[in-house]
Amino acid sequence: VKIALFLAGYGHVARRFAQLLHESEGALAALGIEPVVVAALSRRRGAAFDPDGLDLGAFERRPQTATNDPAAVARILDDMRPFPVRVLVETTTLNIESGEPAISHVRAALAAGADVITANKGPVAFAYRALADEAARAGRSFLFEGAVMDGVPIFGLVRDTLPAVTVTGFRGVVNSTTNYILTAMEQGEAYDTALARMQQAGVAEADPSLDVDGWDAAAKTAALANVLLDANTTPLALPREGIGPSTAARAVQARARGRRLKLVASGTGHGASADLRVALEELAADDPLAILDGQANALELQTWPLGRIVITQRDGGLEKTAYALVADLVTLARNRSMDR
Ligand SMILES: NC(=O)c1ccc[n+]([C@@H]2O[C@H](COP(=O)([O-])OP(=O)(O)OC[C@H]3O[C@@H](n4cnc5c(N)ncnc54)[C@H](OP(=O)(O)O)[C@@H]3O)[C@@H](O)[C@H]2O)c1
Repeated sequence: VKIALFLAGYGHVARRFAQLLHESEGALAALGIEPVVVAALSRRRGAAFDPDGLDLGAFERRPQTATNDPAAVARILDDMRPFPVRVLVETTTLNIESGEPAISHVRAALAAGADVITANKGPVAFAYRALADEAARAGRSFLFEGAVMDGVPIFGLVRDTLPAVTVTGFRGVVNSTTNYILTAMEQGEAYDTALARMQQAGVAEADPSLDVDGWDAAAKTAALANVLLDANTTPLALPREGIGPSTAARAVQARARGRRLKLVASGTGHGASADLRVALEELAADDPLAILDGQANALELQTWPLGRIVITQRDGGLEKTAYALVADLVTLARNRSMDR
């Protein structure tokens, strides 16, 4: 089936996704999926639509002067109506105060009868319950596998492979930048040097406060809690700790005692009473979260009746986040074929 894609946000993730669609052409064709990017939107390049397939190279070369037109998303989704399957691929910048503009983009897509896939944490961290309800009412998919642990299928694992399991809690190391800096500081490296290396590698943002102040981990905690524990919360509502130059001494001392200091995202309980936090914790050396070095991430799910399940991501990164969008595309195509 031909699937028309609208890339809302055309930055690192969206560009890698577009490339991965080509690299995965054969695998997707074998699943009966023929994706075609017909529209794109960026803050400075404005919006573009071509029903015959958008020239993304030309879109990228556009002068970066466009003013933001909030109505553009709805207009383009309308232009896309001749396509039987329309998908919004949301990868705009996360605004940690509100989850916008992504929430509005998702809402506009569902209202127009389109499916949504996103690597942006905003919609699931700030408005999961409302958007999931809107998607259900519209009979469309709202998928966000790339929001936590890049391409590792956390949400899909629970949704598709753990039927009749209750998730009672989770704990994880979910931010690569802070884990890398903590690991480096244990070995005597200065905070600023380790952070600069993460920025050079394109892992940490130019403004690193989203990572080091714990906001990224808080957004992931809210996303996990909203989906797995029905918490209906936001990143702003949870206790949050970050790391800084003064964390070095604690990391070194913990290591000297055979323990390790980690920035742990955790949640237990259910609904509004779920206990959620992002906190620095000193872990025993044999804890599955303590053994993570550098940019590695891991998440432990506490479940009934399956007990504790740990999933580790040893190789995160842009390509893996792009893969999460490809996996979501396959999931939504499967959802569509089940509807028929
Ligand atoms: N990078 C990763 O490894 C990674 C991993 C997991 C999740 N994510 C999430 O994926 C999303 C994209 O990340 P990225 O690294 O691709 O970011 P990026 O390179 O900064 O790209 C962001 C894109 O969003 C566009 N944008 C920003 N505000 C907009 C608005 N109001 N309306 C329309 N477009 C807007 C930007 O437009 P201009 O280009 O015109 O400025 C840019 O094209 C973020 O939410 C991020 O948290 C990223």
